[in-house]
Amino acid sequence: MKGLVLSGGKGTRLRPITHTAAKQLVPVANKPILYYVIENLARADIRDIGVIISPETGDSIQEALGDGSRFAVEITYILQAEPAGLAHAVQTAQPFLQESPFVMYLGDNLISSGISSFVQAFQEEKLDALILLKEVENPSQFGIAEIDADNRLVRLVEKPQNPPTNLALVGVYLFTPAVHQAITRIKPSWRGELEITDAIQELLQSGNRVGWRALEGWWLDTGKKDDLLSANTQVLDEWSVREILGEVDEDSRVIGRVSLGVGSRVSNSTIRGPAVIGEHCLIKDSFIGPFTSIGDHSRVESSVIEHSVLLSGVGIFQVDRLEDSLLGRHARVARHNRHRSLQLLLGDDTVVEF
Ligand code: DAU
Repeated sequence: MKGLVLSGGKGTRLRPITHTAAKQLVPVANKPILYYVIENLARADIRDIGVIISPETGDSIQEALGDGSRFAVEITYILQAEPAGLAHAVQTAQPFLQESPFVMYLGDNLISSGISSFVQAFQEEKLDALILLKEVENPSQFGIAEIDADNRLVRLVEKPQNPPTNLALVGVYLFTPAVHQAITRIKPSWRGELEITDAIQELLQSGNRVGWRALEGWWLDTGKKDDLLSANTQVLDEWSVREILGEVDEDSRVIGRVSLGVGSRVSNSTIRGPAVIGEHCLIKDSFIGPFTSIGDHSRVESSVIEHSVLLSGVGIFQVDRLEDSLLGRHARVARHNRHRSLQLLLGDDTVVEF
């Protein structure tokens, strides 16, 4: 069983954050989403992994994952010249996949569960495709499945205007090589992409065995700001641990599950977990509240921050209260006069002064 991770595409929905960085590398609890993806594949013992990259962000993806040895996997990079759809990505990866069955995993999807049980079911039931479904509140933004009274899959549609159900396709799919044939028979959708949803529908129609499972636990498609903040909250809530590698002075309190990276200093401040602070940060005269992630080389002075994600090199100075915010790399927020609460979506290198 091989793995195929889709890490190309355009990150338009998280702009401006993804103007300068791949959306799959946006950190959740200070760790790129893509790392969780590779780790989840490795846990299911899928070690031969192809990673689809785009010409724009491929270098940064390669730099982040390397040859995969850090995750005990072997990575082959596959360049997709344009983001022409998920099924097009599979087509591009065919020389790597050959006749192997594979797990296709979207590089911006984060799920709380492992995938071993799905791999096992796929093999035992001798399916040609296995998809995972989860109820969502906004079905027109996803691929949607219809199932009949006997729980059999009837039809799949990509981002329907009038969704027949609220059962969305999660971005983890299992396929035999039968999918390659199916892809040759589909046409680009209204948005000009070769949709994997259409390829699975084609498999269904041509009598192949397509199964489904309900995904238990949470699933976050991190393509949007609020999803990213809730992903950060979920991951910190469930997976964070206390690990203090930096320095905390006598006038500070670090409470609960807080991770403080090497070379970071906390001075005259309170940090209440779950929270993660990267390496070489300075937190001075401040309060860092729960569900906050602060990237390496950031500085927070005389400020209060809660429920926010700060990428690396961010500066926050004299801000009474910053919450529900996502700040790109090297963003800087400094207050020069009196205002209360702030809610921001800031791109890399942004400066806000008020
Ligand atoms: O997240 C689940 C949804 O993912 C499914 O419910 C939909 O059926 C499926 O089409 C997909 O929808 P999105 O519109 O969210 O897909 P997106 O364009 O964001 O691409 C998903 C990932 O695949 C992302 O990491 C970028 C990568 N990608 C995308 C395209 C279009 C590629 O590597 N190549 C591509 O050509």
